[in-house]
Amino acid sequence: MSENIVPSSKIFSIKDARDLSKKRLPKLVFDFIDGASGDEKLSEINSKALDQIRLEPKVLRNVEKRTLKKSFLNYQFDNPFGFAPMGMTNLSWPGADAMLAKESAKNNIPTCVSMASTTTLEKMYEISEGHSWMQLYIFQDEDFVMELLDRAEKTGYEVAILTVDVPVLSRRTRDDKNGFSYPFKIGPKQFFDFATHPTWSLSTLLKGIPKPMNYVTSKSGDGIFKRKESRGTTDFDTLKRVRDKWKGKLIIKGVMSPDDAVKIKDAGADAIQVSNHGGRQLDSAIAAINILPLVRKALGNDFPLIFDSGIRSGSDIVRALAFGADYAMIGRPVMYAMGADGAKGLRRIVEILKEETSTTLGLVGLNDINDVSSEIVAEKIIGNTRY
Ligand SMILES: Cc1cc2nc3c(=O)[nH]c(=O)nc-3n(C[C@H](O)[C@H](O)[C@H](O)COP(=O)(O)O)c2cc1C
Repeated sequence: MSENIVPSSKIFSIKDARDLSKKRLPKLVFDFIDGASGDEKLSEINSKALDQIRLEPKVLRNVEKRTLKKSFLNYQFDNPFGFAPMGMTNLSWPGADAMLAKESAKNNIPTCVSMASTTTLEKMYEISEGHSWMQLYIFQDEDFVMELLDRAEKTGYEVAILTVDVPVLSRRTRDDKNGFSYPFKIGPKQFFDFATHPTWSLSTLLKGIPKPMNYVTSKSGDGIFKRKESRGTTDFDTLKRVRDKWKGKLIIKGVMSPDDAVKIKDAGADAIQVSNHGGRQLDSAIAAINILPLVRKALGNDFPLIFDSGIRSGSDIVRALAFGADYAMIGRPVMYAMGADGAKGLRRIVEILKEETSTTLGLVGLNDINDVSSEIVAEKIIGNTRY
């Protein structure tokens, strides 16, 4: 198949979207999206651990009136999943940020706008018709973060996410090998990579090389996103300052320890996002899904909990809810979808996720996604321990 003819009709699963995006995107871009840290095993381990959770089919339950409507943080969403924050999203396809924003409005789900987003937080809020949540890291320049919070509040944002699992940026072998850097340095190797993927390269040239627009439009700082700058000073005092500043809902993302979760709850967070960054940070960490029930247990039944890392199907969304999450976030799959076929690819993957989630719900004998609990798990396994 020619690299520029990729009809969405060829996408039947997230794996299809991944395979197609691999053909269509320059290697440097695909590897940036697909890659993980260190030995790169954890992103696969995340999905395998989800796969090991087996659900119990239930029959004779009348599951005609299934609904995926999910209440979370006092919002009524139409689906139990949203889009995880991802920096430099427009690399996956020109205009990708806007595609995510439109799709979130259409499906009444949240889209998380990365601090390193390639569209300004104001524009994302407008296109998503208010379905945007703002994500932040704390770098050396805390003033810039506070400025972004001011901008977010002024725009109308009600939810902020502080990502805390990148005190140190991990080693990304594939990025290093490919010479992936920001701002881009285009040597002969990268030039050849772009030249052999003309559809992406020409569209990107026409629309302009993606830039971290929140930085470019900032009043403080030098407008440059220094991806490799240390975020190591972030600690519980930082969290306190952000909590004092942000009056809206505050989610802390990247929590993988029940003890940390309790401390973060006590520090005034409104929700916690269990995530190992899709295997892109501590490569020797446990699969995110395996720690989820322990975090749930430590926090109690009612504390709002989001899950991401490794979700590759609607069944995985149901598995995450069964293991204690209230809401799921999707990372790489939406980037694969847009890399495969832009807005059409994204729509196709969202439809597939909705259909798979609804099918799984019916096959475990339920009508309401809010009724998913550990009761539907056939074999309850955490690590190697059955309980
Ligand atoms: C290309 C890419 C960029 C990302 N950028 C960010 C970011 O800017 N902020 C953040 O909190 N997480 C970021 N993440 C992590 C995601 O929010 C999410 O935790 C992860 O992708 C979930 O795992 P999954 O891809 O296996 O679904 C990024 C992930 C990818 C793949």
